[in-house]
Amino acid sequence: MPPPTSDPAWKNAWDAALYGPAGFFRRESPSAHFRTSVHASPLFAASLVELVRRAGLDTVVDVGAGRGELLAEMHRIDPSLTLLGVEVARRPEELPAAVDWTPALPESVDGLMVANEWLDNIPCHVVEVDPRGVPRVVHVDPATGAESLGASLADRSVPASLAAWCEQWWPLGSREPGARAEVGTTRDAAWADVVRRVRHGLAVAVDYGHTAPDRPPYGSLRSYLRGTEVDVLPDGSRDVTAHVAVDSVAGRTDARLLRQADALRALGVSGRRPDLALAGTDPAGYVASLSRAGEAAELTEETGLGGFWWMVSAAGVPQPFDA
Ligand SMILES: C[S@@+](CC[C@H](N)C(=O)[O-])C[C@H]1O[C@@H](n2cnc3c(N)ncnc32)[C@H](O)[C@@H]1O
Repeated sequence: MPPPTSDPAWKNAWDAALYGPAGFFRRESPSAHFRTSVHASPLFAASLVELVRRAGLDTVVDVGAGRGELLAEMHRIDPSLTLLGVEVARRPEELPAAVDWTPALPESVDGLMVANEWLDNIPCHVVEVDPRGVPRVVHVDPATGAESLGASLADRSVPASLAAWCEQWWPLGSREPGARAEVGTTRDAAWADVVRRVRHGLAVAVDYGHTAPDRPPYGSLRSYLRGTEVDVLPDGSRDVTAHVAVDSVAGRTDARLLRQADALRALGVSGRRPDLALAGTDPAGYVASLSRAGEAAELTEETGLGGFWWMVSAAGVPQPFDA
């Protein structure tokens, strides 16, 4: 058999599966496969409009904009906003003409750069402790999902940054065979690259993730297809995602780290049900308030979307969330 022509590391297979020429996200709409805060309620867009207004900004760049749902809703709420979607997929036909669309990050931004559930889809290296206790890079066959262990993290062929990151953020040295980590170097670099582009304004990454005290011992690689969790397979047929080491991302970008529930409450989102008396005086208003309260509850539910992390960096404007 000829030797493999490309690097079989998980990161490379993952990259090809999602973003290769026929990659999953080049063809598929995220909302057809999973539900983000953007799809859950227009209150999420309204909260970001509120954040933009409080900071005195007028421009929003949505990184990993999916089908532009967030920007379309922000445009509906405030047509005076300047809006740009950055997305590998083509511009959606139904997007309002006022929303711009590009595959490349703008060099510099005065405004809010936001990325909802983007970092979890940034491919990263996966490492696993072998039977002798040595952490090694995990390889995968994209067609079958069969895994094998490649070079040790100490090997000269492996970038030293992987071992250094694990040492600082997700130590594996004393862990039992089979323990795994997803190495956050690529997520840290991707978000730092976004944050450095904000000349004046805010950068907000929102994602599911973990911090040092609660790393998943065997990693968190997952696949989703049409709303269901399926076998993890980097063959382009399904989403591939892993939780984000949010403390590492925040450390790299000097970001304030807080839960979505706290961020949204600070922006005025409340899941409190309307007074029942309103049903008698304004039945339509009561129903609308009740529905908003239900959506707010979903966005702030601690075991669901409310437990997501916001990583918030400020440049030339005050940090909007108190420590
Ligand atoms: C999980 S989806 C989230 C979509 C949307 N933000 C939402 O919350 O519904 C991640 C999106 O990021 C896009 N994406 C990933 N890497 C990208 C990159 N380097 N440049 C532009 N878009 C990217 C994918 O194509 C995909 O649409």
